[in-house]
Amino acid sequence: MNQKIVAGNWKMNLSLERSETLINELATFTVPSYASVIVFPPFPYLMMAIQGLSNRPIKIGAQTLSEHNDGAFTGDVSGSMLKDIGCDFVLIGHSERRQNYSQSNLQLNMKVHQALSCHLKPIYCVGETLSQRESGETLQVIETQLLEGLKGISKEEFSQIIIAYEPVWAIGTGQVATPNQAEMVHSHIRQFIQLSLFNDVLINTSIIYGGSVNSKNCENLFGQPNIDGGLIGGASLQSNEFSKIIESI
Ligand code: PGA
Repeated sequence: MNQKIVAGNWKMNLSLERSETLINELATFTVPSYASVIVFPPFPYLMMAIQGLSNRPIKIGAQTLSEHNDGAFTGDVSGSMLKDIGCDFVLIGHSERRQNYSQSNLQLNMKVHQALSCHLKPIYCVGETLSQRESGETLQVIETQLLEGLKGISKEEFSQIIIAYEPVWAIGTGQVATPNQAEMVHSHIRQFIQLSLFNDVLINTSIIYGGSVNSKNCENLFGQPNIDGGLIGGASLQSNEFSKIIESI
């Protein structure tokens, strides 16, 4: 069985006080042994989350990292800094970063290599826009994101990577992909990774779905054979919603 994952992407939300409250609530959660729960607070709250959740079954990740080791990159945060403070995971290629910061697959590929070299586990996000879906390009777009963004990754390194399928049209819109729509893309991603990236060697990658997941729709999504969990935005900011989602994994 692939590892089940529930990840909470806080994006640029919450005050210091509300973050502290949420972290204290998360500290009371139990997590099933077959699952991993990871939260991605904004940079200024990372240390507080790492300290508040140490010895608890919830891991911490950053929402992005620099593709460089160090140097004159004002505003950037390096993988080694994140590892130093106790992060285990990092989001790479979220569509909000791809779109708002014009991050190319090539740049994202550098970030993936950088994360792995710093012993951070990447959650690499892929997904199509509405117009790409409507013009029948969904699978082709995702294949390119996988081929270019994960270029040069060995099979051993790949075991550290989680893939998130996040259709851009479903993120923050309340418009969730149907379980069938999501399952179709997830099973294609799994086959593509196995056949095209690794010469038909079986790869036990967790592939999680993101885009308007909440406590009401998660069970049907997570019930699909190739959906190994979720990357949750808005619903991860409310501890009761997030805990119900974890219970359904
Ligand atoms: P959402 O965000 O759950 O608020 O749609 C998901 C994401 O962007 O990771």
